[in-house]
Amino acid sequence: MRLHFLALAICLSLSLSSTRVSARFFPNITAIPPSVINNAPPGAWESFNNFTGCRPGEKYDGLNKLKKYFDHFGYIPNAPSNFTDDFDDEFEEAVKKYQKNFNLNVTGELDENTLQQIMKPRCGVADIINGTTTMNSGKENTTSASNSTHFHTVSHYTFFEGKPRWPEGTQELTYGFLPDNQLTDQVKSVFATAFDRWAEVTTLTFSEASSYYTADIRIGFYTGDHGDGEPFDGVLGTLAHAFSPTNGRFHLDGDEEWVVSGDVTQSELSSAVDLESVAVHEIGHLLGLGHSSDLDAIMYPTISSRTRKVELNNDDISGIQELYGSNPNYTGSSTTSQERDFSHGHHLTVVGHRWGLATFLFLGFAFLIF
Ligand SMILES: *[C@@H]1O[C@H](CO)[C@@H](O)[C@H](O)[C@H]1NC(C)=O
Ligand SMILES: *[C@@H]1O[C@H](CO)[C@@H](O)[C@H](O)[C@H]1NC(C)=O
Ligand SMILES: *[C@@H]1O[C@H](CO)[C@@H](O)[C@H](O)[C@H]1NC(C)=O
Ligand SMILES: *[C@@H]1O[C@H](CO)[C@@H](O)[C@H](O)[C@H]1NC(C)=O
Ligand SMILES: *[C@@H]1O[C@H](CO)[C@@H](O)[C@H](O)[C@H]1NC(C)=O
Ligand SMILES: *[C@@H]1O[C@H](CO)[C@@H](O)[C@H](O)[C@H]1NC(C)=O
Ligand SMILES: *[C@@H]1O[C@H](CO)[C@@H](O)[C@H](O)[C@H]1NC(C)=O
Ligand SMILES: *[C@@H]1O[C@H](CO)[C@@H](O)[C@H](O)[C@H]1NC(C)=O
Ligand SMILES: [Zn+2]
Ligand SMILES: [Zn+2]
Repeated sequence: MRLHFLALAICLSLSLSSTRVSARFFPNITAIPPSVINNAPPGAWESFNNFTGCRPGEKYDGLNKLKKYFDHFGYIPNAPSNFTDDFDDEFEEAVKKYQKNFNLNVTGELDENTLQQIMKPRCGVADIINGTTTMNSGKENTTSASNSTHFHTVSHYTFFEGKPRWPEGTQELTYGFLPDNQLTDQVKSVFATAFDRWAEVTTLTFSEASSYYTADIRIGFYTGDHGDGEPFDGVLGTLAHAFSPTNGRFHLDGDEEWVVSGDVTQSELSSAVDLESVAVHEIGHLLGLGHSSDLDAIMYPTISSRTRKVELNNDDISGIQELYGSNPNYTGSSTTSQERDFSHGHHLTVVGHRWGLATFLFLGFAFLIF
């Protein structure tokens, strides 16, 4: 993927606008017809279940597919063009890094908890970019560097490499919806609500642009390969991805069963995904946040189906306020350097100084990682 930026940059503007998708929306869970519920296809990564219990040193049929998954999310440095089925040292290292990032026991083996985490639907933005991450696995070496000013601060929020943000002085950002998607007002209002959650804690405001083509943030549902080198993968698996500032592209997988309102946790359909939960997360990327190892943060990379998680937590708020400052009207308690949650037992380091995770700049395009 890294070698394809040039082609990518050239064909982006040509290919994106020609993709036509009628995404699957359900206004609420009672609107999901029984035929859909009874014929739910398996999630994109369900077959990874086969690798439960796999250990270093052995060879397993099809393990190369799991290696591709790890490579996709940035866990295999200097990846070869093809992968073998051997559970080799490199793969063991990748598994360990993954386990650190997701607060699992660091065993280097594909134990059940690790596989369950791997199969969860997630954001397409990589956890490790160009070998750099500020999720847990990248933290050891930052301890002494961040010693002086932020000693004893626990934070998990991260930024993209180079810490890109919308320019100083930006107050209002506009967003637009891909006209081909013909989204209903009900769907559009979900995005408006998601933007407002970030506006509430920063000085930014968001409004719908009169034209999709001139909007700062351009929202579109696409299926499969849609021209940016990051194809979507059908039901579950990758749900959405977004680019770092100031690119503004925000793509969602049109094959998901998107639930627009109501209590998604009560859905009979196991693959139902809450639209607002995913939107709030991706907007975090659009504004400059990378992935967080804090399970409760909106910027944690995975979200299970039938789950609703829309409230920014302190980790998200601290991260976004470090980039854009705080909304004077915001009465919550979080600030960037105060002492925070110690309950997770993570290293006492601050990661905000290290560049982070997820994006490359190439020919003026911020390239999305997932
Ligand atoms: C769910 O959506 C259907 C179809 O739009 C509608 O008829 C029904 O009233 C909605 N139910 C609730 C509880 O909103
Ligand atoms: C892996 O799992 C899939 C579906 O879960 C199954 O169809 C397939 O036979 C399994 N492959 C192996 C090698 O066990
Ligand atoms: C992987 O690539 C190497 C070197 O290019 C080649 O020798 C090998 O046959 C390839 N393996 C597979 C499984 O395609
Ligand atoms: C880690 O290992 C301990 C002891 O074996 C076990 O009790 C615990 O459930 C494991 N936690 C995870 C997240 O795998
Ligand atoms: C920490 O630094 C050592 C030596 O400089 C390096 O080998 C190691 O990969 C670094 N670890 C991380 C997580 O960056
Ligand atoms: C880090 O902080 C500790 C405790 O305050 C101090 O003893 C140590 O010298 C500091 N290390 C560096 C590299 O600043
Ligand atoms: C703060 O609240 C006042 C009064 O409601 C409003 O006029 C102002 O725009 C708000 N400021 C921000 C940054 O949201
Ligand atoms: C990746 O890291 C290397 C070494 O730090 C740097 O030279 C290179 O520009 C980075 N590439 C991207 C795409 O950020
Ligand atoms: Zn993400
Ligand atoms: Zn895309």
